[in-house]
Amino acid sequence: MPVVAETVVVETISELRSQLRRAVVAATSADTPHPRIALVPTMGALHDGHLALIEQAQQLAEIVVVSIFVNPLQFGSADDLARYPRTIDADRELLTPLGVPILFAPSVAEMYPARGTKVTVHAGPIGERYEGKTRRGHFDGVLTVVAKLLHIVAPHFVLFGQKDAQQVFLVSQLVADLNFEVSVVTVDTVRAPDGLALSSRNRFLDERERRAARALSVALEAAESSADRGVEAALAAAQSALTGDTVVHLDYLTIVDPATFLPADVTHHGRAVVLVAAVVGDTRLIDSTTVHLG
Ligand code: PAF
Repeated sequence: MPVVAETVVVETISELRSQLRRAVVAATSADTPHPRIALVPTMGALHDGHLALIEQAQQLAEIVVVSIFVNPLQFGSADDLARYPRTIDADRELLTPLGVPILFAPSVAEMYPARGTKVTVHAGPIGERYEGKTRRGHFDGVLTVVAKLLHIVAPHFVLFGQKDAQQVFLVSQLVADLNFEVSVVTVDTVRAPDGLALSSRNRFLDERERRAARALSVALEAAESSADRGVEAALAAAQSALTGDTVVHLDYLTIVDPATFLPADVTHHGRAVVLVAAVVGDTRLIDSTTVHLG
């Protein structure tokens, strides 16, 4: 793990670019003539899932930038945006012992100047399905901010958690379709001992909801164990794990073809991705896993 005296919090794009130029010069040596940069984009409230992304980033690159920006463009309702946890001081304290040199934490005005954002990214048809069907415009907002971060940081690697499988698929499409020179790296979902995927939103769950939230990962496990009997059996097994607790309101449960992200049909065999989203109490949770359909 690299040692840094303190994680530098950078709030402006121009300062970030000069910090990066300095970091590249400092990391350049005969052994490392072209130091690499890895970006871990986050919305903060960091947890072990983010730490796994950072550890992977440190394996890949000499310079790791973590960004924290609660991106208003990807929130549908003002309430959800206002409620999203903001814990920048605690986040920074986590990053220094991990050896992260730069935390990019711009304001909304820095990322979206008052003149407004006139050009945005449209995520296309897959952006309107699943998570994007309930949260209209969500993925346009995600891809717009990811595109901006990729231009600002110009990293060699950008890392995302596999839990947000649709986000990973759409970012990969963005990178391919708009010719970004970056490798998209996905890191396995980190789970609590009972299986619940770590998420910044888990902190909103009370004790009863926290117990009920297990249903999502139980459903994914059920799909995994029935997958050898095909897509319908896997869906039925997952569905039964999601009924029975009134605090869990299922939004969608589906199995998609990883190549197209369209629903897998009964003729689909081999790798597939199970997606689930539910509102538990007042908190929206999503999860996903890869299965092999027989
Ligand atoms: O996954 C997230 O935390 C966000 O969607 C991201 C990628 C940081 C963009 O705001």
